[in-house]
Amino acid sequence: MASGSVYLETFGCQMNELDSELVVGALSALGYRFTADPADASVVLYNTCSVRERAEQKVWSRLGEVAKAKAARPELVVGVLGCMAERDGEALIDRMPVVDILCGPAELDRLPELIDNAARTRSSLLSTEAPTRTTPARSARQVALQGSASRRSGTLAAAGDNLEMLDLSRSVSPVDGVGGTSAYVRITRGCNKFCTYCVVPFTRGAEVHRPPEHIIDECKRLADAGVIEITLLGQTVNHYRFEHGAAVTVDGVTQPQKGRAFKGGHRRDPLSGQNTTTFADLLKRIHDEVPAIQRLRFVTSYPRDFGDDILDVIRESPRLCRYIHIPAQSGSDRMLKMMNRGYTVAEYDDVVARCREKLDQREIGRPLMLSGDIIVGFPTETDEDFEKTIDLVRRSRYKNCFIFKYSPRPGTTAYDKIPDDVPESVKRERNNRLLAVQAEISDEISREQIGREFDIMIEGYSRTERKRRGIDVKPGTGMVAITIGGASGPTETNGPAPTQPSTAATTQLAGRTDGDLIVHVEVPTNGPTPPEDLVGRIARCRITDANGLSLAGEMI
Ligand code: 5AD
Ligand code: SF4
Repeated sequence: MASGSVYLETFGCQMNELDSELVVGALSALGYRFTADPADASVVLYNTCSVRERAEQKVWSRLGEVAKAKAARPELVVGVLGCMAERDGEALIDRMPVVDILCGPAELDRLPELIDNAARTRSSLLSTEAPTRTTPARSARQVALQGSASRRSGTLAAAGDNLEMLDLSRSVSPVDGVGGTSAYVRITRGCNKFCTYCVVPFTRGAEVHRPPEHIIDECKRLADAGVIEITLLGQTVNHYRFEHGAAVTVDGVTQPQKGRAFKGGHRRDPLSGQNTTTFADLLKRIHDEVPAIQRLRFVTSYPRDFGDDILDVIRESPRLCRYIHIPAQSGSDRMLKMMNRGYTVAEYDDVVARCREKLDQREIGRPLMLSGDIIVGFPTETDEDFEKTIDLVRRSRYKNCFIFKYSPRPGTTAYDKIPDDVPESVKRERNNRLLAVQAEISDEISREQIGREFDIMIEGYSRTERKRRGIDVKPGTGMVAITIGGASGPTETNGPAPTQPSTAATTQLAGRTDGDLIVHVEVPTNGPTPPEDLVGRIARCRITDANGLSLAGEMI
């Protein structure tokens, strides 16, 4: 049994949050304990993101801080996990010699071994030679770095197989693993789309799909542990497709199946018939075979891969959420082409129209909610291109939209071939304009909900309530045990901390509709049902007020 204490901080996307949760589970099972205070840790890990430069800058600054800590405590082991490790490789160590471990997202299953090697080598080094500024842990690093090197020389098959091990090893016991009633389940890894601005196909590798049996089994185990809401994850989640019995073997290792693109969505292949599990099939199977999961949703969808088969399954399945995150990235065909997005604005509009036609069931209290991603200031973007994006955002009526200023990423086609020629001031201005447009739409959508009744899944105290009670407020969704930018551990959630009593007459709880709208509800602090008992449950509410993106409701 290992006996170190670990500080783990997660940056970036939901996929990273899930990876961190799996790392917490794997290391806890080996006897490591987690701490929220880096000063308390013998191992400091950063699970990093490379999608935009800003995410990387945060990690560089953390590494600067930890370098100071390590000067005082040379035995400290520092690891960089995830996309930055994969993309920068050993150059990262050249720039930040404080780093002992690099572990790309595709080899996290090897992390316990890497930590163990680094700690052992370090302790033998420290006991035999006095560390100096230039030599302290060179051999420790070399041992620990094998993870990164093997990824580059390894086969895709082996990488896929190892990753499957990581997901399969998930700990779902309520005491030692899952921190709440919501969980992420990965169905697809990697991406084959190669949008010209994006590092993901390089850092997360080629697209591989997990076998449906593994996914369904994981959902069942999570449900048995008390989970009632699952979010399926994939970079292009609706591109999921698994061909049974057609696995090929490379060097004796089963090669997971790549998805195939079908314009307009995945249809059952007449040649392979029942041997193929499409995304629509997978949704239906989880919905029907794991009925304890009261809410099933998925992110992120790729616009071109939405077949009617998927929309029909969602419509017919009451526990499938009316929420779709479907990034457009731009409203200009010229930009979409340069981005290599693989669809036109008209095709995007058509997908949105089909989604609304099939899935908006406001008459039964289930309006469809869409959300989007937009990049502003992609190279050569003109005012005219940008106006088209504004039009698209207005037409799409997202409940919320993530807006990013283009950030050139080394290694991508756009970085290599297209100069980043839109000035920062123009990017900022477009960003702000689009934010204002979206704020107007979000506000309108929120107001439309007043008077409607919804099932709300209560997630915990609202931000206001946490502030009221002096509970540390960290960014994050509260959906999993790990919060973005926060310290992590199996017990760290955004839920109530029972030790902090309230003297207020009401307690404000936060929950979500199945369309992912946030609702705040005041419940009596000393009423028949303690507010804490509602957390993780679904409650019926009527919306009484709306402010920006958040709604106020009352229990009915
Ligand atoms: N610059 C800005 N935004 C980016 N995204 C991905 N790569 C970049 C980049 N280089 C955005 C896209 C994607 C989201 C996860 O991040 O909008 O959908
Ligand atoms: Fe990146 Fe495009 Fe793949 Fe999304 S679909 S992960 S933006 S390459």
